[in-house]
Amino acid sequence: MRFILVRNLKGNEILAQTLFDGYGKILLPAGTKLNVPYVNRIRQSGFYYIYIKDEALDDIKYDRTIVNLKQRTVERLPSLFKNILNKDQKNIKESLYMVNELVSYIIKEGDINTNLYEINKYDNYTYVHCVDTGIMSIFLGRFLGLGVDDLSNLGTAAILHDIGKIQVPEKIINKIGVLEKSEFDEIKRHTIYGYNALKNAGIIEINTLAGVLEHHEKVNGTGYPLGLTGDKINIFAKIISVCDVFTALSANRSYRERFNPNEAYEFILSNINVAFDKDVVDKFKQNFSIYPLGVCVKLSNGIEGFVIKQNKFFPDRPIIRISYDHITKKKICPYELDLLTALDITINSIVG
Ligand SMILES: [Fe+2]
Repeated sequence: MRFILVRNLKGNEILAQTLFDGYGKILLPAGTKLNVPYVNRIRQSGFYYIYIKDEALDDIKYDRTIVNLKQRTVERLPSLFKNILNKDQKNIKESLYMVNELVSYIIKEGDINTNLYEINKYDNYTYVHCVDTGIMSIFLGRFLGLGVDDLSNLGTAAILHDIGKIQVPEKIINKIGVLEKSEFDEIKRHTIYGYNALKNAGIIEINTLAGVLEHHEKVNGTGYPLGLTGDKINIFAKIISVCDVFTALSANRSYRERFNPNEAYEFILSNINVAFDKDVVDKFKQNFSIYPLGVCVKLSNGIEGFVIKQNKFFPDRPIIRISYDHITKKKICPYELDLLTALDITINSIVG
């Protein structure tokens, strides 16, 4: 199995995974031989990368459960939003069960190195962004030592963190160009609208509410709506804030190209003690791997190879399999290079 950026597909590859669209419907099943129309469909559906079959990397297996769980959550999220806005308490309880499914999975599998690419597979769909933020927050909460109930409340807050945006006029949300001060003030109010929507719908757990209300606060006090600093900001909000910014940066926006996960990762690190809490970012840094299994990377010594294993706590230093000579461009007997022991070598870029 090999990771490939969609823009590099040639149209003769074989799919190694079933692809679902942003609404949870099967787009193409695993084993499909690609052609140009299929590649166009994949591109139009917003995929940024996929996995294809590659005999030389046959030993790489990836757990797909989280992908399926994510699909199901994305599919069910619109009805949860609707139930909250309609204050339909009975159905809210049922819908929130999906958050518990995610929590159970993440508690069971949380020791694996979570891949930042896996979380950000699609371009930006509103609901996908909510679920991405939710999944990442639950992982991060677990790494920070939160228990089951807290993780469930954190997941709820993270999935619903932007629900207040529904109350902001669409013409402000979609405005291209500079916002007037009054328009920006209205956007900032989505935090308060969200807090009120949850409260009115009977979701009254204090950290869940604070997670939604404070997810745009910054530790240096320049955030909104309250301008809280450091320890005054709720821990759920601190976690959601990192995950929200990371997933938003990794998505395509009309006004800019998406960041690669490694660039978004650097952005998070550079905002420690400015926007983000140091302990939260430290856990983020220790536990999320940047380069996905099966991706081809170019190293600082000019050699290219495939990521075949992660090194826990060192997200930017995986183990690489090298199978051809980069000077003669000929295949060689494959060997493995552990970037944890070859400290003079770094990854320069994804070849994908
Ligand atoms: Fe927000």
